[in-house]
Amino acid sequence: MTTRAATSTVTSVIDGSRDAAETARVIEARNPSDLREVVAEIHLATAESFARACRAARDGQSGWAAVPAPVRGEVIANVAHLVRENKRELAAYVTREVGKTEAEALGEVQEVIDTCEFFLGEGRRLYGMTVPSEMPDKQLMTFRMPVGVVAVITAGNFPTAVPSWYMVPALLCGNTVVWKPADYAGATAQAMAELFWHAGVPADALHLVQADGESTFRGLELALDEGTVDKVGFTGSTDVGRRIGALCGAHLQSPCLELGGKNPLVVMRDADLDLATEGALFSGFGTAGQRCTSLGTVIVEEAVHDDFLERFAATTERAPIGDPTRDVLYGPMMHERFLERFENQWLGLIRDHHGVHGSTGVGRITTTNPREGFVGEDPERGLFCHPTIVSGVRADDELANTETFGPIVGVASFGDFDEAMALANGHGYGLSAAIYTESPRTAFRFREAVSSGMVSVNNSTSGAEAHLPFGGNGKSGNGSRQSGVWVLEQFTRWQAVNWDYAGRLQKAQMDVAQVDADRDFRL
Ligand code: UN1
Repeated sequence: MTTRAATSTVTSVIDGSRDAAETARVIEARNPSDLREVVAEIHLATAESFARACRAARDGQSGWAAVPAPVRGEVIANVAHLVRENKRELAAYVTREVGKTEAEALGEVQEVIDTCEFFLGEGRRLYGMTVPSEMPDKQLMTFRMPVGVVAVITAGNFPTAVPSWYMVPALLCGNTVVWKPADYAGATAQAMAELFWHAGVPADALHLVQADGESTFRGLELALDEGTVDKVGFTGSTDVGRRIGALCGAHLQSPCLELGGKNPLVVMRDADLDLATEGALFSGFGTAGQRCTSLGTVIVEEAVHDDFLERFAATTERAPIGDPTRDVLYGPMMHERFLERFENQWLGLIRDHHGVHGSTGVGRITTTNPREGFVGEDPERGLFCHPTIVSGVRADDELANTETFGPIVGVASFGDFDEAMALANGHGYGLSAAIYTESPRTAFRFREAVSSGMVSVNNSTSGAEAHLPFGGNGKSGNGSRQSGVWVLEQFTRWQAVNWDYAGRLQKAQMDVAQVDADRDFRL
């Protein structure tokens, strides 16, 4: 198996071979903190190569499924071991390629380890049930069966953790995987895949395809037509999720979709305002606002609105931003395309009735548009942006209803609880939500009324733990959930078995023994 390669050239790896895919074009991945540094040359494959990888995964699937589940669990234990032993190196890829701070990069690699540790024991469970039959001499039971070939298509904002949420349980359950990482995070993906292969995942059970979005979509279409993909896992934008959902639906498949969010953080008058400010700062600006769980709008009760806004603005003004290898709140945008959307689309949603706070400028940080206290040499070497707080947000503003993947946070105020809920739910997303309150009654009322799949009380909208169900409703997904025991429903199908040893045909519902009862009896 030829899986070791120089980090400077990144290719697809199909059946362990770096030559199996046709190159459609070559792109350079540059360090977003210092664009002079080329992290890798990435060979992007054609749609046909994606389909070829799916065929190879189909060929490998029965062999991998035949490995006993506890032994597959051992392989996942090896992945955990190798990721732990290479934690710093893998995190360094994340920082170099997508600009995450070292602390956050180490945190997301830890999430890979946590995911492996949760699932390595599942190989000794994958429980089915034995169920009584309505007839004698007959046994009923259920088995979890692998789905088959899983195509995993992931974004680059969590280039190791989120792929692991798909790959680890999918492999553990006996599926084979074709992984298509974000094209701007290809080197990190290659490093991560190496760890899986070296841990004992066979070359025909995990294939890596480096490709752009359109080739992937066409490749997926080909593969679904050929019948070589049985499940799609996709993390990315709502628009692309809709396209993938429609394509899968036409093939009678329900993908696992993890899409965008407009995650609200409600601050009640009884909240600890220091805590709420800290939570809003990390939720809104951690990862430069590029998490699907990043804070969209802070919704603050009128009585404490001005006080909160003042604290939030002051804390944001002081926050260290810049070189992600130093102690900063956030580093650069992951890639030029996110900078471009931030400047041209999301900042364009600010209107005259809004107030702008949080920095000494708006948009990209440059020498002519400096950020006071910028951490690092020359901000223009990287894709750094000012944090932007927009106050005076109203329920019908575009800004209140559009996912803005970047360091911009809206602040709105409310009078009564219904108004707060209209702001929290009105946008139609439903991924994550937070409330800051000291009142259990308010926290439970909020939990009940909010549309999101994940709710935090007195904590950030981001930062879900790796063993709780992760996923959203409405425009945030199709109801699928990742992580913990819940994701097993994505990567296995139930097989129901009935085994009759009566030696004669017993017809269900018809040959069932009758019991006499006097149902009109009264005392
Ligand atoms: C994502 O942005 O797609 O809960 C995932 C969080 C992280 C995962 C985010 N553990 O913020």
